[in-house]
Parts: sequence; structure tokens; C-alpha cells
Amino acid sequence: MAGEGIMSDIAPPLWLLAELTYRCPLHCAFCYNPVNYTDHSSELSTDEWIKVLREARALGAAQLGFSGGEPLLRDDLEVLVREGRQLGFYTNLITSGIGLTDKRLDALKDAGLDHIQLSFQDSTQELNDFLSSTHTFDLKNRVAKSIKAHDFPMVLNCVLHRYNLPHVDKIIDMALAMGAEYLELANTQYYGWAHANRAQLMPTAEQLKEAEAVVERYRNEIGDRCKIYFVVPDYFENRPKRCMNGWGSVFLGISPDGAALPCHTARSLPGLTFPNVKQRSVREIWYDSDAFNRFRGFGWMREPCRSCEEKTIDAGGCRCQAYLLTGDPANADPVCDKSPHHEAVINVVRKAAIEREPDEHPIMFRNDSNSRRLAASHDGRGPDYHIVADLAGVRK
Ligand code: FES
Repeated sequence: MAGEGIMSDIAPPLWLLAELTYRCPLHCAFCYNPVNYTDHSSELSTDEWIKVLREARALGAAQLGFSGGEPLLRDDLEVLVREGRQLGFYTNLITSGIGLTDKRLDALKDAGLDHIQLSFQDSTQELNDFLSSTHTFDLKNRVAKSIKAHDFPMVLNCVLHRYNLPHVDKIIDMALAMGAEYLELANTQYYGWAHANRAQLMPTAEQLKEAEAVVERYRNEIGDRCKIYFVVPDYFENRPKRCMNGWGSVFLGISPDGAALPCHTARSLPGLTFPNVKQRSVREIWYDSDAFNRFRGFGWMREPCRSCEEKTIDAGGCRCQAYLLTGDPANADPVCDKSPHHEAVINVVRKAAIEREPDEHPIMFRNDSNSRRLAASHDGRGPDYHIVADLAGVRK
């Protein structure tokens, strides 16, 4: 049975991510929302969200992220922040900055918001605006100033890929000039829309190496002034990441319509029914649902993971990646060089090093019409599978 031998040892969730809405003013080519998000457009009410916050806090969750889409599109954000803070959560707003006026910053401060994570797409207006398919660079700069003027600790977040990796020094300079306490240089993880655009976004090994050296140089120069996180995309590794710190281990995501997810992109996995907070309590969902137990612990593993001495280190890697690249979420994460599917990852990295015509695979921006198109091609294997399987050369 999945989760075998661990049911009495399940720790409570630590991190609650409230994805308040899939609506977003940006159209980022690397968004991790499901490509078929238009299939899930309903949203929980304020009261339903409050119930979720109370139940998750009672269970032991301590960190609360408000995300989306763009969470500022919800008029009740301040109400939810206030509730979360009063319950004792550490609260974090994860935002594009669009809609973050001084008035809302005042209200969020008053509600007790602890932290703001502001995303940029690049240090240049041209690329920032291209990748989000908007004209928002100047606005984001103004918002960054306002966040600091309101004395919020700020994380600047920038997703990295082949277009902006050569700008890493400028991105760090930008974060320093803005007074960000933290800079998250998040190399693209290939799920959701990033997966659909993987051929365009995947960097070369050389680009990554150079960017990493730049980050190291800055870290030595700036000391504690700004803490820089730089995570290499695991396609370039031989061992998988410990995704979500293990399935059903610390992370509880609630999507806009109330479906509870063990990771941001679990929704694309086949054969799982995700419980909804409208029908079940957070406690039941966390401890008793099939979706949260399916890949908990080690009982679900097949070879080569089952007998691998490293399984306690990587917890089996990433289920979504196993699905997207092999068609079966119970397979070994193919990033691992012990996986019989590891060649699929090597092929992707190899292809990234080959020069392409710019319009060979035009970028697909996240928008409603592209989402509906992808949702219509859903055949039960998940909307991403065929797109990526073709690119990776693993489609049968
Ligand atoms: Fe879903 Fe890794 S992203 S398990």
C-alpha cells in the first residue's frame, strides 16, 4: 500500500500556500500554474478561505504564502492576511506587484503582513516586458520603492533561463539598488507553462556555470547586505532534488477552487483525485486522503528507487517530473542517472546547446486562449505530456 509503514509518523504540514486566484495581469512564459488553468476558474469565498486558514493552523502549519495568479486581484486579500496573522502564521505575499498601490500597502501593513516577494522577469525593460507580454517594468520599479518605503522586508524574485542568465550581474545590481534583503535567482523548473516552453527557455551548461561564478563573486563582495539564492535546474544534475521535501511531508497547497495539492503542479498527474476543502477538513485531507498518501514515504517506490541507499536523501525526487518525462509518476525521477529514462534528460540538455532558429518553437505565453487550446488537447495523460514528450523524444 502507498504510504505503507508511515501512517503513524506523518508530521503536520508546515507551509500553507494559498493560491487565491489563477487570474493574472501577466502572461509569463514560465508560469507554474497548470496550462489548463481555465478548466479551474472558480474561486473559494472569503469565508471558505478563512476556514482553510483556521484548520491548517490548528494542524500546525506556520508559514502562510498568498500566491496566485496575482493575489492582489482578490479584494479580500487584506482580510485574509489579517486572519492569518491573528492565527499566528508568518505571512508572505508573492506578487508581480501589479495593483500594489500605496493604499493597499498601507492596508496590508495594518493587517500585519510580514513579508513581500516581488517578481521581476529581468533587469532590462525590453526582456522583462517581452517575457511577461506586458509593459510593467517601470511600474514594478515604482512598486519596489513603495515596498521599501513601507518598511517591508523584500525578496526580489527573478526566474532564470537562457534569455536572462547572461544578465545575472545586472539583476543583482538591481536588487542591491532596490534594497532587497533577499534575491531569489530561481532557475526555471520545467513544469506548467515553462514545460510547454522548455525548448526556448532551457539554458546551456556554460551559461549556468558562468552565472554561478558571477553569483559567487557577488556573494563574496556584498556579504550580508543581500542574501542571494541560486538554485541550479536539476536537469543538469545526476541526482534528483528532494522535491517538496518529500510528498505530503511539509507542503500543503490550496488551489483557487479549493483542491488541495501536495505540490504546485500535482494537478497535472493522472490517476489522482485531489480532495477539496469544500468537502473535507484540512486534517482529513492531510492524513487520510489517497492523494496525499499515494507517494508518501517509500512504500510506493519501484526499482531502482526501492532498494537505493540514497532514497532517504532525495525521497524519490519529483513525481511531476517523472510523469512529464516518462508518462508514469511512479517511475524513478529521470534526472537520476540510475533511472532507465535518464537519457530523456540528457537529450533535452544536449538539444539546448544546439543553435536554433528563433522561430523554430515560438514561445507560448500564458493566456486564456492558449490555456483553452491546451485544455482541449487533454487526453487523460495530462496536457503537458505530449508537448514535452515530443520535444524530449520519449513519446511512443
Ligand atoms: Fe510535483 Fe515535484 S513538482 S512532486
